[in-house]
Amino acid sequence: MSAMNRRDFLRRTGGLIAGSALPLSLIELAFADEQQNFTFAYISDSHIQHIKGKDFVRNWDRGLIRTVGEANLMDPRPDFVMYGGDLAQLGTKAELDHGLELMSALRHDKVHYVMGEHDYYLDLGEYWERQLGPQWYSFDHKGVHFVVLNSVLTYDEWTHNRWSSGEERMAVMAGLDNPSGSPFMVGEKQRDWLRDDLSMIAKTTPVVVFSHSPLQKIFKNWNFWTEDAEQVQVLLKPFDKVTVFYGHVHQIQYNQIGNISFHSAMATAWAWPYPETYAQVDSLLPKLTVEMNRADPFFERDATGWQFVDVWSGNATLHYSLTENQPRTVAFNPKTGRPEDTVYQNDRIPPQQHF
Ligand SMILES: [Fe+2]
Ligand SMILES: [Fe+2]
Repeated sequence: MSAMNRRDFLRRTGGLIAGSALPLSLIELAFADEQQNFTFAYISDSHIQHIKGKDFVRNWDRGLIRTVGEANLMDPRPDFVMYGGDLAQLGTKAELDHGLELMSALRHDKVHYVMGEHDYYLDLGEYWERQLGPQWYSFDHKGVHFVVLNSVLTYDEWTHNRWSSGEERMAVMAGLDNPSGSPFMVGEKQRDWLRDDLSMIAKTTPVVVFSHSPLQKIFKNWNFWTEDAEQVQVLLKPFDKVTVFYGHVHQIQYNQIGNISFHSAMATAWAWPYPETYAQVDSLLPKLTVEMNRADPFFERDATGWQFVDVWSGNATLHYSLTENQPRTVAFNPKTGRPEDTVYQNDRIPPQQHF
């Protein structure tokens, strides 16, 4: 079903990416008429972190610099680049400026940005918005409707009434498992906007949605969760084919809920381990419909890597190249109606191979 297999992809990228560990997605949207095919690259979660003066955390800088370098070498050249959020670690002007400076080395005309919680909670997106524009928006490209949401909002009371400073608020929200944090949400105002936006789109138009947090409920304690996910899913339900891409989780995830395929992207900065409670079904709402094999959380760089995505007739095929593990492909299976690992869906991933 894929218009471009892994070997083709490597050939088309000159083999330059083979063996590298870059968390970059190349997404191809393929149509029956090949003239309409196009690709875009997807980079996420760089967490550029300021130390002091002109010093930034070097590893996070290097992850983004290498990714930008690879994106510049891609052939065919992606039509545009998506950035999935968490460009900064603590949302400061220094971090956002430095991150955008690294991104400015991209030789692409257009880069679209998604808001991450690490970009947002210092000044509620004010500086980000001045640099990059609205926090939620949509655009059409070659017959596909793209929607970008800010899914990391939360209750007004939490946002506005509890903190003596933006720094204090950011420090709490930046923690992965801080019990003083608050669940992410899209919110009523943005859902109203989404309803209006989608009302102008034919139900047969492929819809691709980008959020930072998953628009499904995976694990609340780590905010791998969007509180009003079901209400957003209802707005997406009338469309024939919907794909949601998200960052934030720094690991491979995939799922199918009704007509919506969900796929995460890896981070350029670091991999998060898989929460143990993934196995505790009671904590999941909804239950994940596809059992997922896991990369090994004990390898610090496992679940970082690069990936590319074909979208064919509105369904996505993701090809992952992991530094410390077997390459993997997760593709939509028309027989079962859900994304599945093409090799390891029913078997455990074999022991890690070290390259
Ligand atoms: Fe992140
Ligand atoms: Fe995040």
